[in-house]
Amino acid sequence: MAKILVTGGLGFIGSHTVVELVNAGYDPVIVDDLSNSNAKILNQLAKIIGYKPAFYQLNLCNEQGVKELAKNEPNITGIIHFAAFKAVGESVQFPLKYYRNNLYSLLNVLNVYDSKPVNFVFSSSCTVYGQPDSLPVTEDAPVKSAESPYGNTKQIAEEMLKDMSAAGSNYKIIALRYFNPVGAHETALIGELPIGVPQNLVPFITQTAIGKRQKITVFGNDYNTPDGSCIRDYIHVVDLAKAHVAALKLMETKGFTGYDVFNIGTGKGSSVLEVIKAFEQTTGIKLAYTIGPRRDGDIEKVWGDVTKSKNVLKWKTELDLDTMMQSAWEWEKYIAQNPL
Ligand code: UD1
Repeated sequence: MAKILVTGGLGFIGSHTVVELVNAGYDPVIVDDLSNSNAKILNQLAKIIGYKPAFYQLNLCNEQGVKELAKNEPNITGIIHFAAFKAVGESVQFPLKYYRNNLYSLLNVLNVYDSKPVNFVFSSSCTVYGQPDSLPVTEDAPVKSAESPYGNTKQIAEEMLKDMSAAGSNYKIIALRYFNPVGAHETALIGELPIGVPQNLVPFITQTAIGKRQKITVFGNDYNTPDGSCIRDYIHVVDLAKAHVAALKLMETKGFTGYDVFNIGTGKGSSVLEVIKAFEQTTGIKLAYTIGPRRDGDIEKVWGDVTKSKNVLKWKTELDLDTMMQSAWEWEKYIAQNPL
């Protein structure tokens, strides 16, 4: 079985990807420093896949530690690199924290596995597009000046990987530009675990529904969109996880060389108010919300053109907004009853 190193493998997207890797016959090896995840997710994963996957607790900025990891795990054929900080607002406050963590960890991992062919999947983001000039946004749209240090780490990482590839690296590389991942696994055994007050819309919705938060504030209803609230391309995390398997499969073909980048979304935009409505309709729970001012740094609307992913990656989404809401809600209820 091909061994795949999954950095950040206990996080939200990482843990769902571990499940899909096992479903596809791969052998995941998880590395996580637990800075934004919980070691008990390993037990949860075991309940889904039937065994506890290999796990190393390690901060990837620790160069010596990463060298030792490579000594212990020499037979890695693929790497999926999730490990990174991702809070946009925090990155504006503490830029060096973001540059240090997100870039050192990437460099250290790339350094230790570069002596033989390895397939590398990088977690990028639609944040690299900023507010696109035309929608849906395609992969060849100009990358705009980053709106935050977080966004900049994604842009810099993509540039680094492209340069490495051009220089004839042993790595085959795919960067996946995620749109907005939400939802949870159908078993409700894994899902998003925000620390403190959630910054993202869907965890805020589910925490409001369960009574942890009083109400949701919709950040602005005066945007140039049909209902005035911002539009995003929300994608079910299980669909997103499967895109990583598709990326590995593509890199395993002889025809794929070098570096490529794909949009990972549904191709369809939903407004904040539409997401709230979808949650209410699928769960039957009425949500308390108010309209507040715009949030600094938010872009008005973005959704992806996913033609290239369909044609080249041979991947597309299967789960709709209602399924995203229902599964996120099942997970919120599960975690309320079974705190980790
Ligand atoms: C942002 C980043 C994205 C990053 C993600 C991870 C940008 C452009 N996007 O996504 O790259 O991967 O965070 O955290 O930097 N909203 C409310 N009320 C709330 C919370 C959110 O109205 O309480 C609205 C926001 O204004 C936005 C939408 O919901 O329109 C989605 O927000 P959020 O879930 O935070 O994701 P992004 O900001 O799109």
